[in-house]
Amino acid sequence: MSLSKVFISSAFLRHCRDLLVTKSDLELVYRDSFAIATQEELVKEAKDCTAIICLYSDRFDAKTLDLLPELQIIANVAVGYDNIDLEYASKRNIAVLNTPDVLNNTTADMAFALMIALSRRVVEADRYVRAGLWQTQRFDHFLGSDLSGKRLGIVGLGRIGSVLVKRVSGFEMEVVYSNRKRLDSKLEKELNLCYLSLEELLSTSDYISLHCPLNEQTFHLIDEERLRLFKPTAYLINTARGGVVDSCALVDALKSGRLAGAGLDVFEDEPYLSAHFRDLENVVLTPHIGSGTKECRQAMMELSANSMYECLSGRKPNNLVNPQVFSKLKTVIRQ
Ligand code: GLV
Repeated sequence: MSLSKVFISSAFLRHCRDLLVTKSDLELVYRDSFAIATQEELVKEAKDCTAIICLYSDRFDAKTLDLLPELQIIANVAVGYDNIDLEYASKRNIAVLNTPDVLNNTTADMAFALMIALSRRVVEADRYVRAGLWQTQRFDHFLGSDLSGKRLGIVGLGRIGSVLVKRVSGFEMEVVYSNRKRLDSKLEKELNLCYLSLEELLSTSDYISLHCPLNEQTFHLIDEERLRLFKPTAYLINTARGGVVDSCALVDALKSGRLAGAGLDVFEDEPYLSAHFRDLENVVLTPHIGSGTKECRQAMMELSANSMYECLSGRKPNNLVNPQVFSKLKTVIRQ
């Protein structure tokens, strides 16, 4: 029996290795390092592999894919897959798998955490106490603003956005949404949701939470012009992708008070943060940890490893991003 060679790109993905190590029809190539692989390392180490299990920080552009001629499956341990040239991968009949659903609750929680951190100025207040500046009781200390009675605008009502709707239901907020596709009116009624155009949503919401994928249509969706629509008291929350927001325009808008603040978990050029967010008081910054709980990361790795093996075994997994390539896969493990 010839073995299928599977590359696991990071020591962070050890659980994937542990799940697959007993499969006698696989040969695992495990990159036992926590450092992000360079393109050269990726190509060198994944050479001759049929499948790759990788992180969002691994980039698979056309050039890299061209150097991996045996590759048939990329299992991306993330729900977003803008690190992969999907069009080119599909042209090459490479199946791309992601990790939907298992991170919905966790990522929605993170958006909500940023929202509360902003509304109650939790991080600013923490900095103040740590710096030893709390010398006297003040009735007007770090006055925040209530969530109840405010309007939350959700941009992108997919899986995570929909969970956020449920999360806020106990907080007496009005929830509006903008989406490529409008829900049917019965569902809108059931969820107590109101559909608005993006412009209307941006100009009337108190909290705006982004939940759309990054693609050609959403790149810099929130640009200078749209930032001008925000209320000066509004907060922007981004747990989606940095590229959905023009970061330089956002920094300018935050500096000039065109919006009140931002909670950002994702950045255009993470982890480097070339835009000057660090100098601003009215932002809460986290290092792309939207799905960062033990339970969630474990579930993501399980989904990735299991669906990669399913695909390799000739069964079509539900989390196949480009299902059109499935019938063209030269699979692989005959069972
Ligand atoms: C994280 O950003 C993901 O796409 O899963």
